Amino acid sequence: MDLKKCVRVIEDFPKEGISFKDITTLLKDGKALKYAIDQIVEDLKDKNIDIVVGPEARGFLVGTPVAYALEAGFVPVRKPGKLPGEVERFEYDLEYGSNILEIHKDAIKPGQRVAIVDDLLATGGTTEAAIKLIENLGGEVVSLQFLIELEDLNGKAKLEGYHINSLIKY
Ligand code: PRP
Repeated sequence: MDLKKCVRVIEDFPKEGISFKDITTLLKDGKALKYAIDQIVEDLKDKNIDIVVGPEARGFLVGTPVAYALEAGFVPVRKPGKLPGEVERFEYDLEYGSNILEIHKDAIKPGQRVAIVDDLLATGGTTEAAIKLIENLGGEVVSLQFLIELEDLNGKAKLEGYHINSLIKY
């Protein structure tokens, strides 16, 4: 299946010069959604993943079905002030703007095998922050999985040494 055909590209959103990759058109296509999740699950199924981490908000949409299929746990990484328990926090740069991410301190136990699953790899800032948060808790980041990778932004450079799988490349 050509998943790229299921992604809608909207120019100049959320601001001029940004070519936004809209995954809502993929998500609402039942066959495409199942195919995309199955591809990620296939790549992770022999990696003994204990926990899938998904960054807010679109990472929740992709990460949770992957965790379910693997019978792994799901842990959200969230924007500041959303998680009620004690948190670990990390500041990072975005494709547009900057942000802070948080994770519950008790979400991951030392030695647990973790996959990060998100819709998009752009600059790699979000994933890099998620890796730092997971590793600060003692988790082992085993794999990074994305629906889409924007190759021009070279997010991979920030993520050297980690296994990366992206389903659609621009
Ligand atoms: C988007 C996307 C990734 C991140 C990728 O999230 O879902 O998490 O940006 O960009 P990066 O590789 O440059 O860090 P965004 O912060 O826009 O939040 P959203 O999912 O809540 O829309």
